[in-house]
Amino acid sequence: MAIKKVSSLPAASVLHETRVFHPSPEFSRRAHISSFSQYRKMYEESIKSPEKFWDRQARAELTWFKPWKKVLDWKVPNAKWFVGGQLNVSYNCLDVHLSTDRANKAALIWEGEPCGPGKPPEQRVFTYRQLHREVCLFANVLKKLGLKKGDRVLIYLPMIPEAAIAMLACTRLGLVHSVVFGGFSAQSVADRVFDSQAKIIITADGGFRRGSVVQLKKNVDEGLTLRSASGECLTSSIHRVIVVRRAGCDVAFNPQIDVWWHDEMETASPRCEAVKLDSEHPLFILYTSGSTGKPKGILHTTGGYLLTAKMTSKYVFDLRDSDVYWCTADVGWVTGHSYVVYGPLANGATSLMYEGAPNFPNFDRFWSIVERHNVSVLYTAPTAIRAFMKWGVQWPGKHDLSSLRLLGSVGEPINPEAWMWYHEVIGGKRCPIVDTWWQTETGGIMITPLPGATPTKPGTATLPFFGVLPEVVDETGEKVPKETSGKLIIRKPWPGMLRGIWGDPKRFMETYWSEVKGSYFTGDGCRQDKEGNFWIVGRIDDVLNVAGHRIGTAEVEGALVSNKNVAEAAVVGRPDELKGQALVAFVTLKTGIKPTPQLKEELRNHVGKEIGPVAKPDDIRFADMLPKTRSGKIMRRLLKQVASGGEIKGDTTTLEDLSVLASLTAAED
Ligand code: WTA
Repeated sequence: MAIKKVSSLPAASVLHETRVFHPSPEFSRRAHISSFSQYRKMYEESIKSPEKFWDRQARAELTWFKPWKKVLDWKVPNAKWFVGGQLNVSYNCLDVHLSTDRANKAALIWEGEPCGPGKPPEQRVFTYRQLHREVCLFANVLKKLGLKKGDRVLIYLPMIPEAAIAMLACTRLGLVHSVVFGGFSAQSVADRVFDSQAKIIITADGGFRRGSVVQLKKNVDEGLTLRSASGECLTSSIHRVIVVRRAGCDVAFNPQIDVWWHDEMETASPRCEAVKLDSEHPLFILYTSGSTGKPKGILHTTGGYLLTAKMTSKYVFDLRDSDVYWCTADVGWVTGHSYVVYGPLANGATSLMYEGAPNFPNFDRFWSIVERHNVSVLYTAPTAIRAFMKWGVQWPGKHDLSSLRLLGSVGEPINPEAWMWYHEVIGGKRCPIVDTWWQTETGGIMITPLPGATPTKPGTATLPFFGVLPEVVDETGEKVPKETSGKLIIRKPWPGMLRGIWGDPKRFMETYWSEVKGSYFTGDGCRQDKEGNFWIVGRIDDVLNVAGHRIGTAEVEGALVSNKNVAEAAVVGRPDELKGQALVAFVTLKTGIKPTPQLKEELRNHVGKEIGPVAKPDDIRFADMLPKTRSGKIMRRLLKQVASGGEIKGDTTTLEDLSVLASLTAAED
C-alpha cells in the first residue's frame, strides 16, 4: 500500500494548542470516572493486566448464558475474546431491562422529518418493553421466512425505528446483519448482496430527505436485476424482500419475492427466545471503503463488540438514567450501530433517532429537537458543526439548549474554530466536549477524553480508552518521539476489534497487520504532544474523508472508468472548508470524445448511480493524460497539489501543465 509521508499538521491545531479545558468540579463529582488519577489507574491496569481487567468488566457489564473459559486467544491477526462464553446481544439490550425500573422507560424516541414547513414532525416512542415486543415479533417473521443462525440479512432502510428493530431481531436469532446506508445506490446494494450472499433484504418503499422521497424499494428492484461483468446475477442469493411502508409512494410489488412488513407482523407471535450464541458468533458485516478495490466487509462478533459498545457509551458519554441521548449518525454507518443502537440500549439509556437533515425545513431543526426532547447528550460530526457555524448563531439562538450537559464529536478531525463554536454557542461554555477517534474496524471509541476526568484541548482526541494501546511510529515501525508526526497504530488487541474482512483473510492480513508487523495499522497520520495527547492528522492512505464519510479513491476511479467515455481517472482530495475534504477527479477521455460541461455533469451523475450521491466528485478536471512515474504509477501527490493549489486554471488540465509540475516534483515511486 502506498503510504504517504506525514510531514505537516494543519496550522490551526497548533494555534490553539495551549488552551486547556479542565473538567468542571460539578461535572466530575457526578461522573462515572471522576478524576484523572482514577482514569490513569484503570487504564494502567487495563494495559498491564488486560485479561484480569476484561474478565472483570465482561462479568460486570454483560449478562452471559455461559461463562467463558479463556478471556483472550490471540494469534496475529486472529483474536477470540471470551472464548467459550455464550450470550445474546438483543437480550443484553432489551430483556435485561425488563425486570428493572427501566422496563417502561423510553428506549427509543424517534422523530421523522416534517413533511413540510409548518407541519408537525412525526414522533414515535418505544419503551423497553414495547421495543422488546416489536423485536420479538420481527424475529419471528424472520424465522418464518426460513432464516437460520448465521444467515446474512441486508438492511437498507431510512432512519426509522424499524431499522433498529430489524438489527436487534437479527441479533436475537444469530442472523448476521449488513446495514447499507440509504444514500447508496442500487449497484452498491447488489455488490453487497453478492459479497455477503444475503438471503433477505429489508427495505422501505421510500424515506424522506429534505422534503423529497428517496426511492429505496425502486433501488432494490433495480439492484435485483444487476449482473457482474461476466454476466452473473449479483443477487441470486435473495429469497425475499421485506418492505416497510414509510413514504406511502407507489412501488412495484412482486408477490413471489416481496412481503409487507406490517402484514407479516400482524400474524407473528410476540414470544421469541433469544438464541444462546457463542461470544465469537458473527454479529454484523459493515462495508467500508479502503485504499484499493471495492468496499470491504468489516466483520464484528458478539461478546467483544458489545462490551466495547456498552463500556465506551457508559464512560465516554457518562450515561445516566435521566439522560436523553442523541447521536445524529445514520444507522448505515458504524457510529449508528454502536452509538444509536447497541451501546445506548445495552446501558438502558434513552436513545433519540432522527430521520431527516439538519436544515429541513429550517436551519434550526437540530436545536428544535434538542429543546423539545430535552436532549442532554449530543453526539455529532465536525462537518455538521461547520455547517451550523456558517448558517449563523441566530438558529441555535432561537432555542433553549440548557438541557445539554455533554457534547461529542466524531468522524474527522475537528478544527479548533469549530470546537470553540460548539463549546460556546451550543454548549453554553458549560458542557465538556468529547472528541472521539475511532473507525468502522475498531467497533467503538478508541481515543477520547473521559468527560469528568480528562483535560482537553480543542482539536485533539486526547488519550486512549481502557485497553487501547496506540502508538505513533515511523516508516520502519519504530515509535517516534513526542511532537513528531507518524503513522497511528494499535499495539494490542481490544475486545471490539474487527475479526476479519468477510471472505477475504488475505486482504485482512495485508491491510491491517502487515504495515507494522503484529500491530493494527489504522491508516491515519498522528502526532502526540508533550502531555501525550493524540492529534489525528487524517488519512494517509488513499481513503478520503468527505463530510465525515469514508470514500475510497479507487472506488470512485472504478466508477468513472466504467463510463463509456472515460479512458483513465485519478481521484484525489482537496481541503474543503465545510466538508473537510472535497473530491477532485482528473479524467482522460477516449479518443474523439469532447470534454464538455454536460459530460462533467454526466460523469458526476454516473458516479452517483454507481456508488451513491455521497461519492459524486465535487470537481472534474479533464486532462490530456495523467502524470505518471516511470513505472506507470499515477502521481497522486502531484495531482493533489494541482487540485488544491490552483496552479492550473480553467477546465482542461493540459499535458504541458502537468509535465511542468512533474519536473518540479520528486517522483512518487
Ligand atoms: C476519521 C467513523 C479525527 C479517521 C467512526 C478514521 C477521525 C476514519 C475522528 C474512520 C476524530 C474518525 N478525529 N479523525 N475524532 N473520528 N476519524 O470508519 O480518519 O467511518 O480513520 O468510522 O474517520 O471512519 P469510519
